[in-house]
Amino acid sequence: MRLLNKVVVVTGAASGIGKTMAIEFAKEGAYVAVNDVSKDGEATVEDIVKIGGKAVFCQADVRYETQVKEMMDLVNQSFGKIDVLINNAGVSIRKNILEAGEEEWTKTMDTNLKGAWLCCKYAIPLMIENGGGSIINIASTHSFRTQPNHFPYQSAKAGMIALTNGICVDFGLKGIRANNISPGFIVTPLASDYLNEFPNRDEKIKKIRSSQLTERLGTPEDVAKAAIFLASDDAHFIYGANLIVDGGRSIYQRTD
Ligand code: NAI
Repeated sequence: MRLLNKVVVVTGAASGIGKTMAIEFAKEGAYVAVNDVSKDGEATVEDIVKIGGKAVFCQADVRYETQVKEMMDLVNQSFGKIDVLINNAGVSIRKNILEAGEEEWTKTMDTNLKGAWLCCKYAIPLMIENGGGSIINIASTHSFRTQPNHFPYQSAKAGMIALTNGICVDFGLKGIRANNISPGFIVTPLASDYLNEFPNRDEKIKKIRSSQLTERLGTPEDVAKAAIFLASDDAHFIYGANLIVDGGRSIYQRTD
């Protein structure tokens, strides 16, 4: 119960990492505002209620300011404060600079980066009013070490690191801590779409395993545990960190 009575907003919580974080935060005693653009977020709320937790569904598209403002108002009306914001909603369009179109750039940037900014814009004043808060931005190992054909995803995720630093320097002294988590390959529907792009899916999975320092694949629970730590008082002195959750993949240079 490391987050007893804390109010946590998780964006993109209908699926994958966001859904698991919402449930794991509820297990730690938090009240959870489950955001998603998809109605499927209702199922996450049902799962939380089933385990005795408290949650509210806030359907909103994080790309649009009016929707984000209404969402934060709803969270404030429902729970009276915001302690933790997790900017997790994301899409991944994988092209190269020449192939990507303006629409793909806009969708990727707006969902991953603009959405995170808008959520901060409307959550930070409520956090300050309540004495402070913790923001966790779900970036990616692509923010600092990318692979071919991950544009504009890697650019959006690199922007999140700068966003985190900006939050800290502008609002750290007012009680706002912000940090990033950079997951590596994590088994979710988004990751499954990526695997489906390869003619030999099993071969690709084998390659991912051998690029890590552990054979097992990353799970949404691995990311949730890191987020619970960063949200908790145990991380009180941590500002602007980028916690890499990737099974060692980004530091491992194979020699064979
Ligand atoms: P997912 O596709 O399973 O879940 C993403 C959720 O975001 C979906 O429920 C979707 O409806 C929601 N969403 C999309 N656009 C939205 C919008 N405009 N407003 C509100 N909600 C929206 O993806 P996954 O894998 O759980 O990814 C979660 C985050 O983790 C993303 O930011 C992703 O970039 C990041 N990540 C994932 C990795 C992986 O291997 N799965 C690796 C590194 C980072």
